[in-house]
Amino acid sequence: MRIGVLLGGESSERSVSLKSGECVVKAIESLGHEAISIDPKHIDVTLMGFFKLDKVFIALHGGIGESGHIQALLDLLKIPYTGSGTLASAMSLNKLNSKEIWQSNSLKSADWVTLHKHAPIEDIKAQLSSVVCPVVVKPISQGCSIGVSKVDNNADLLEAVITAFEYDDDILIESFIAGREYTCAVLNGKPLPIVQIRSEQFFDYDAKFGSQSATYHCPSDLTSEQERDMQVLALNAYNALGCRGWGRVDTILDESGDVFLIEMNTIPGMTTRSVFPMAAKEAGLSFEQVISSLLDSAKY
Ligand code: DAL
Ligand code: MG
Repeated sequence: MRIGVLLGGESSERSVSLKSGECVVKAIESLGHEAISIDPKHIDVTLMGFFKLDKVFIALHGGIGESGHIQALLDLLKIPYTGSGTLASAMSLNKLNSKEIWQSNSLKSADWVTLHKHAPIEDIKAQLSSVVCPVVVKPISQGCSIGVSKVDNNADLLEAVITAFEYDDDILIESFIAGREYTCAVLNGKPLPIVQIRSEQFFDYDAKFGSQSATYHCPSDLTSEQERDMQVLALNAYNALGCRGWGRVDTILDESGDVFLIEMNTIPGMTTRSVFPMAAKEAGLSFEQVISSLLDSAKY
């Protein structure tokens, strides 16, 4: 088969996507297929090339690759692609939409308020004055924790808000949940073993890709009952958003034992340092088997 691998793109997660894409290309080749790397940064010149492909593996993170735009294009071109469809991608990349859908399905995430960049400054100030720290400030539609800050004191809130507005016109301010972080990968409707994330510093972009101070543990420290409950929650969160193919659900377990959903990732990182391949390995699946299973379930 001729498989197009979409990688790179123009989102703030470009560099991570290039690394994921490189690993995916290698796996596709070792499965005996032809892999054609396509960087949508140059989509105008590559669009015609799509017609020669049997399937597309989307290894883009964030931006038009994870927002449903590329998925809509492939739907129109009738080319099977990996992962979630247009609507589920759009709902999942937007953290506010995800939280509202989860809330309507009685699935818990941290309390939040939203701010819009172009709202009257008095309204923004009034909303900020009601915020009780600690909180986490996030752009609504970014990945890899880009533009995300934890804020312990109200005096530092404005700076975090300005940073988040650099990445998005709409931002979320969520109550900070103290606890342990976990993530649950889902592959074709089946949750994989939970991965625990341990990070000395707040688990932001730097902890993930800069200082790389975060460490990932699979099997996790959960009891088998906690692990099962978290997998069920992750699957419910994934299904509520209408995801398909694969995804990764990030969660926090607080000190009283409650689990809060953080976000849905419809195109999880697939770098050599990523969590999805680690969870798959624990389930007895090689990187190539994951890619093969995703190609099998590709559709438009
Ligand atoms: N957005 C990054 C790539 C992830 O969720 O793995
Ligand atoms: Mg993410």
